[in-house]
Amino acid sequence: MKIGFIGLGIMGSRMAANLQKGGHTLIVHNRTRDKAEPLLFKGAAWAGSPAAVAAQAEIVFTMLAPTQAVTNAALGPDGLLSTLEPGRLWVDCSTVNPSFSREMAEHARTHGLRFLDAPVTGSRSQAEQAALLFLVGGAGDDLAACRPLLELMGTRITHCGGPGMGASLKIVINQLLGTGMAAFAEALVLGESLGLARAALFEALLGGPVTAPFLQFKRERIEQGNYEPADFPLRWLQKDLHLAAVSAHESGAAMPLLNAAKELNRLAIRDGHGDEDFAAIYSYLAGHREVR
Ligand SMILES: NC(=O)c1ccc[n+]([C@@H]2O[C@H](COP(=O)([O-])OP(=O)(O)OC[C@H]3O[C@@H](n4cnc5c(N)ncnc54)[C@H](OP(=O)(O)O)[C@@H]3O)[C@@H](O)[C@H]2O)c1
Repeated sequence: MKIGFIGLGIMGSRMAANLQKGGHTLIVHNRTRDKAEPLLFKGAAWAGSPAAVAAQAEIVFTMLAPTQAVTNAALGPDGLLSTLEPGRLWVDCSTVNPSFSREMAEHARTHGLRFLDAPVTGSRSQAEQAALLFLVGGAGDDLAACRPLLELMGTRITHCGGPGMGASLKIVINQLLGTGMAAFAEALVLGESLGLARAALFEALLGGPVTAPFLQFKRERIEQGNYEPADFPLRWLQKDLHLAAVSAHESGAAMPLLNAAKELNRLAIRDGHGDEDFAAIYSYLAGHREVR
């Protein structure tokens, strides 16, 4: 199958590589062409714009951030909707807010196209090992049509409902990821300020009932103060917390903890941590602790 893939960052480059390993022909585009080189070396074709990708593809995947990059790739002057043949499917795997996804579904519909929101959970290593979880919103028939492709990139596929429902579940998950990471970083800072050794804190907290399992994978980074290269850049976590806040505003949900975590991460970006892994929120908080 001729598959278009737009967005070859940490996640997209690895997802596209798995489609290629599955024997499919790729037509790729990325703002920074260098990142496409490993795929081009293995036979993918380069296209100079999203429109040029879509003109040649039977299905198009996008994996972009921030949301404006998705808007531009779809609706810009060289956007994919201008050239994708009616009846074809656009699968947006980017993490975006549900109302945005529903807008994109509507734009696709007015162009005679089909659309799925299919954001993922899992990070760099799950993308590499084709072990992502896809959270899909849209028509069941459209999911059935692209399921074999999703299975080349992931191990689990959850159909969450109609357009925007995959994005909805993803936003809920990342609300927990962001508040959970911030709460754990604060716990470490509190423990250390009280004189507890960091190793003792890790031993007591990780794997126990009060901490989320993902935090175990952040131990080494925090112990070594090593936040680059990022698995998930702090800047994108803050983006997702913002998207969750926007979504909550739209739906009328009150989210005091979410908004605190969102602003905390904003301050960390200002302090230079945006491109680091999101576990660097600990480094930001610890660095701003009063020494008495
Ligand atoms: N990393 C994770 O653990 C993870 C997990 C689940 C979901 N996600 C989601 O996956 C998506 C991609 O994230 P990532 O981690 O792969 O991040 P990334 O490595 O920073 O990739 C971002 C992608 O968007 C492109 N982009 C950024 N700004 C752009 C602009 N102004 N115009 C056009 N393209 C632009 C980048 O192009 P360049 O290469 O030119 O910068 C790159 O292709 C995001 O929506 C993120 O929230 C990430």
